[in-house]
Amino acid sequence: MAPGSLINACVPSTFAPTVFGAEILTVSASLVTNYSLDIPEGYRFTAPPLKVERARFCNVTVAYTHPGYDDEIYVEAWLPIDNWNGRFQAVGGGGWAAGRIDLSYMSLAGAMQDGYASITTDGGLGSASDPLPWALTSPGNIDWFLLEDFASKSLNDEAIIGKSLVESFYGQPPKYSYFNGCSQGGRQGFMLAQRFPKAYDGISAGAPAIYWSDVMLNSFWPEQVMRMMKEYPHWCELDAITAAAVSKCDGLDGVVDGIIANVDECRKLFSPFDLVGTTIACDDTTKNITKAAAKVAKAAWVGIVSSTGEHLWHGINPGSDLTCHSPNTKIPNCVAATDCSNGNCTMEHSNPLGWYWLTLFIAKDPDFDLSNITLDEFSSFLHASRQQYGSIIDTQDPDLSEFKKAGGKMVSFHGLADIIVPPKGTEQYYQEVSKNVDNVGEFFRYFESPGLGHCLGGPGQPDSLFAQLQAWVEDGIAPDSSPVSFSNSKGETQNRIICPWPRKAQYDSSCGNAAKAKCWSCVAQVTPESNIQQEEL
Ligand SMILES: *[C@@H]1O[C@H](CO)[C@@H](O)[C@H](O)[C@H]1NC(C)=O
Ligand SMILES: *[C@@H]1O[C@H](CO)[C@@H](O)[C@H](O)[C@H]1NC(C)=O
Ligand SMILES: *[C@@H]1O[C@H](CO)[C@@H](O)[C@H](O)[C@H]1NC(C)=O
Ligand SMILES: *[C@@H]1O[C@H](CO)[C@@H](O)[C@H](O)[C@H]1NC(C)=O
Ligand SMILES: *[C@@H]1O[C@H](CO)[C@@H](O)[C@H](O)[C@H]1NC(C)=O
Repeated sequence: MAPGSLINACVPSTFAPTVFGAEILTVSASLVTNYSLDIPEGYRFTAPPLKVERARFCNVTVAYTHPGYDDEIYVEAWLPIDNWNGRFQAVGGGGWAAGRIDLSYMSLAGAMQDGYASITTDGGLGSASDPLPWALTSPGNIDWFLLEDFASKSLNDEAIIGKSLVESFYGQPPKYSYFNGCSQGGRQGFMLAQRFPKAYDGISAGAPAIYWSDVMLNSFWPEQVMRMMKEYPHWCELDAITAAAVSKCDGLDGVVDGIIANVDECRKLFSPFDLVGTTIACDDTTKNITKAAAKVAKAAWVGIVSSTGEHLWHGINPGSDLTCHSPNTKIPNCVAATDCSNGNCTMEHSNPLGWYWLTLFIAKDPDFDLSNITLDEFSSFLHASRQQYGSIIDTQDPDLSEFKKAGGKMVSFHGLADIIVPPKGTEQYYQEVSKNVDNVGEFFRYFESPGLGHCLGGPGQPDSLFAQLQAWVEDGIAPDSSPVSFSNSKGETQNRIICPWPRKAQYDSSCGNAAKAKCWSCVAQVTPESNIQQEEL
């Protein structure tokens, strides 16, 4: 359709979405012209940075309710006027938000600029960045309806409404439909593949907060360990331990570049307890690394362990930022952030995922005091979480056979230096799917990215992966590797690849330049001894 007729069509009466089980409350539509937004690297996860300039789109917002649920959900679609590419793309939320937050608008605007009819939903949760306003109908009582909207239900509604808006506006349904999200948005993508296998042709879902119960409690685990010890190590000590792990394990992949690629080997080689007593520079003074600091680092890396020594969930990896004092860390929710500004250290802030989950959803009491809970109580909380919420929001059903049968394709990635969501969980899920569905690589590939933080920040942003997903869906070209590039400490551009799990990137030293992607290939097993590059990059 010509831009002129699309402009005329940008009125509420053009649209009449219907969703079984929902009642549409209002539809608003208005033309937005001259829209600009600068989207930096990483903020759309698997798509490149972009400047949106003077864009024109029809902004359609649909409010609806599920009668009896007492909810009110807003979905907002941006329909490009000048360059629709025939496709539809939903974007995910982050943290405690289903969408319609600044992060979602980055992806939404970027998708719109790229020509997609794009959409985001608030899942009925409003605009708060935490669940305090909605989790409880009263102390002791969960708002199960809103939790279900957030966990799954609103995601399918969004796909149905979005496709309907596209067809009404452009006179034809989308040729292909995609989902792009990370973290909470990653979990949403996995939920869609598990429960609504026909909603999208292609799903890009990074650092997914799947195994939700475990991930929520795990994000509080280092704090729990500090509270049990009643010791809060200085962030200098924790940062020194991280730096020592990086320097010990950096070269295991054959290249010394400040990045730990071989995490499993690193876990065997490096113990933070070896550093206890080491003197480090800290601010204007010196400190000795304490046993407490080693214990906190170990707790973060190992994950939740019960009082009988049972390993209950995975930790994050050595090399990931524990304190959020690194400028590379873009998402300020580190698991062991201590505040030492008054001489003695205390918790700087609790991780908002674990804190709110424990108080609001497990204790069901906003005033619940988490400061002195015992290890056994903590383990019971994890058990309760899995029991009460597993089927609602854990998002760990490994049977993706219907998604496969529907022809869907999914790519996932996880930064190996993720500060919150342990990559081992995504790896575990991938293995579980492999046991349940034949030839998983034919429809689902998972890429680990060494050095990358939670969704964005640090080296290894897989910003071509969305385009590769599209080529997989539309042209049958599966991504056998994905390019990443970053600047090293000397400011030199490094071009690398990341690989579909379980394959890893191997550097060929005979090729002569680790900064060139062509000198890297995906192999089953990296052999470090043969090709240690001596020169530091
Ligand atoms: C478009 O917006 C820019 C600022 O973002 C402004 O300088 C410019 O005058 C606007 N153009 C029109 C035609 O409104
Ligand atoms: C789109 O419409 C919604 C609902 O009316 C409004 O809140 C939002 O600000 C609009 N966005 C833009 C970019 O105009
Ligand atoms: C660190 O340890 C050394 C030797 O064990 C000791 O002499 C020094 O006083 C300690 N420094 C601090 C700041 O505790
Ligand atoms: C730090 O803690 C020690 C021991 O508990 C105490 O003696 C000291 O006064 C505290 N310093 C500050 C600045 O609070
Ligand atoms: C928790 O422990 C702190 C001291 O570590 C104490 O001040 C506080 O009263 C305790 N809270 C409860 C509820 O026992």
